[in-house]
Amino acid sequence: MTATLATASYIGATILFILSLGGLSNPESSRRGNLYGMIGMTIAVLATVTGPHVTSAGYAWIVGAMVVGGSIGLYASRVVRMTQMPELVALMHSLVGLAAMLVGFANYIDPAAATEFSGAAKSIHEMEIYIGILIGAVTFTGSVIAFGKLSGKIGGKTLLLPGRHWLNLAGLLVVIWFGREFLHAESISDGMIPLVVMTVIALLFGIHMVMAIGGADMPVVISMLNSYSGWAAAATGFMLSNDLLIVVGALVGSSGAILSYIMCRAMNRNFISVIAGGFGSEGGAPAPAGGVQPAGEVNPVLAAETAELLRESKNVIIVPGYGMAVAQAQHTVYEITKVLRDKGVNVRFGIHPVAGRMPGHMNVLLAEAKVPYDIVLEMDELNEDFPDTDVAMIIGANDIVNPAAEEDPSSPIAGMPVLQVWKAKTSIVMKRSMATGYAGVDNPLFYKDNNRMLFGDAKKMLDEVLAALKS
Ligand code: TAP
Repeated sequence: MTATLATASYIGATILFILSLGGLSNPESSRRGNLYGMIGMTIAVLATVTGPHVTSAGYAWIVGAMVVGGSIGLYASRVVRMTQMPELVALMHSLVGLAAMLVGFANYIDPAAATEFSGAAKSIHEMEIYIGILIGAVTFTGSVIAFGKLSGKIGGKTLLLPGRHWLNLAGLLVVIWFGREFLHAESISDGMIPLVVMTVIALLFGIHMVMAIGGADMPVVISMLNSYSGWAAAATGFMLSNDLLIVVGALVGSSGAILSYIMCRAMNRNFISVIAGGFGSEGGAPAPAGGVQPAGEVNPVLAAETAELLRESKNVIIVPGYGMAVAQAQHTVYEITKVLRDKGVNVRFGIHPVAGRMPGHMNVLLAEAKVPYDIVLEMDELNEDFPDTDVAMIIGANDIVNPAAEEDPSSPIAGMPVLQVWKAKTSIVMKRSMATGYAGVDNPLFYKDNNRMLFGDAKKMLDEVLAALKS
């Protein structure tokens, strides 16, 4: 492929990626968005592989790498469960970071690159390498730790080293100092020492940054790592003088940053303090385990009684959470919704911005079950309607309906907006036990007089409710 054709293909792919992002902003157009993305990526890969920068000697390597990588991707996508998606995404971000790091080192020691640049262009190129490896290393270890936390391999508790902000500041100063050394290095071997030292510091910083973040703040971290992986890709684009990678990296980086901002607002966190690294528990002290402990008796309920309460209702709001994803109960939820709607009950779904374990997790599940989009509403769109609601049915959700966020200033989730299900005439919580949710915080909702607990696996209990409704 000639250079002109490759450039034209890159422009086409860039347009498709922009259309893809536009499509993904709405559930109804998301399939089309995905399709644009897939076509764009195919064009991008073909144009790169057959482009002017690849010599025929490299084809065997490229094909080999594509077969290995493609097989792993295909296998992973077939075996991964929907509840493991966030971990998979975190792992993929780590690969982007690792790739940026490796490309940076390879580019630095590449003899062709050394003769290609001179003077100011050489300094700029070396700066690209230094920054690219820096972002890549932070993304790599940060994402690996995020993977560990999301998969439960690493505990959700925050690790707060004494004077951690000073440690971070010292790390930053050392990185700047070695950056100067790197730019002034006479030879590749001289430059290697500052480059390796910076890489080690960046790898440790990635671990430190994510280890210091508590359970309920993980959504912000995930979207930030998403953004970092974009900037790492953009940095790689600069190193390789690849315009497409620069544009696509910037698209991912900026859309991830916007998502982080939206997440921060949803969690009532200050965006600036988040990007400055001051998130998790403030003041350097670990957050108290559970704030004021709720106490009292819970009122258990049976599936048949739940069906009766639903049947007698005029307005029902269903609040799905992570447990619905675990139980794969979305199809039964929709069956129940259809039965109730046929009986004239107004059923709507209330979606919290951080319900589940990834942005849009609940929307994806409900769309898979073919729940109509017009009855799936954001938290802000229906939070005021709970006082006029007969039954609020909470399916495997916990943190996102915890009144302690509003009522207990000492709670680790204090200030996080939640769905005010306790304001409904009756709330029914469907979960297997009294266990806490992701944030590890007790939930006073369970002890409220108007709350009922339907204990059991969400899918099994909903099947029983559906059977009772139909009988
Ligand atoms: P959680 O607070 O984690 O609560 C889920 C509840 O589901 C658990 O208390 C669990 O109780 C129950 N459950 C699990 N399996 C079940 C099953 N098979 N059947 C019935 N119930 C089941 O979830 P949430 O309310 O959706 O809140 C999300 C939390 O995750 C927030 O703290 C959020 O910050 C965090 N988080 C979110 C994201 C994103 S981006 N969405 C990313 C990372 C972390 P039992 O064990 O008693 O059944």
